[in-house]
Amino acid sequence: MILGIGTDLANIDRIQGTLDRFGDRFKNRVFTEREQMKAERRKDIAGTYAKRWAAKEACSKALGTGLAMGIAWKDMHVSNLRSGQPIMEVTGWAKERLETMTPPGHRAVIHVTLTDDHPWAQAFVVIEALPISDDAGTAG
Ligand SMILES: CC(C)(COP(=O)(O)OP(=O)(O)OC[C@H]1O[C@@H](n2cnc3c(N)ncnc32)[C@H](O)[C@@H]1OP(=O)(O)O)[C@@H](O)C(=O)NCCC(=O)NCCS
Repeated sequence: MILGIGTDLANIDRIQGTLDRFGDRFKNRVFTEREQMKAERRKDIAGTYAKRWAAKEACSKALGTGLAMGIAWKDMHVSNLRSGQPIMEVTGWAKERLETMTPPGHRAVIHVTLTDDHPWAQAFVVIEALPISDDAGTAG
């Protein structure tokens, strides 16, 4: 079953402006160390940050809280599989919120998809609950 959906559109030029103005202060508040390492070795640094910004906003919406209720930006982390497919991991309060939303006997899966076409970066997040089958071992 679907527990939540969220979307966000971020303006890459606005993110570039914030990077220019606040530099590390902005980066360290919003992005994990691994997200920063990925973005900084890319050609399109601002675009890479903008997609991850959009993903975090979208995830906070899918969690049903937005960013006002206490989720730290860095409690939502985007990484990529070898194929390039993005994955979203949550920690801290975001993880607690996810656990609260998840019905007993289920585990939550966060799906995320990203795209950018200057000046826009977009993310969709879907949170799905899957039943934990008896043979699922440690899933949960
Ligand atoms: C996946 C693909 C369709 C993306 O198209 P695109 O127009 O270049 O990129 P978009 O701007 O729409 O989206 C980029 C985002 O797509 C996502 N993406 C990349 N590969 C993906 C994949 N295999 N599955 C799902 N999403 C993927 C990423 O989140 C990426 O942003 P990020 O790298 O900052 O996380 C295209 O790169 C493709 O067909 N690749 C084939 C697989 C490939 O070459 N992989 C290279 C690594 S082995």
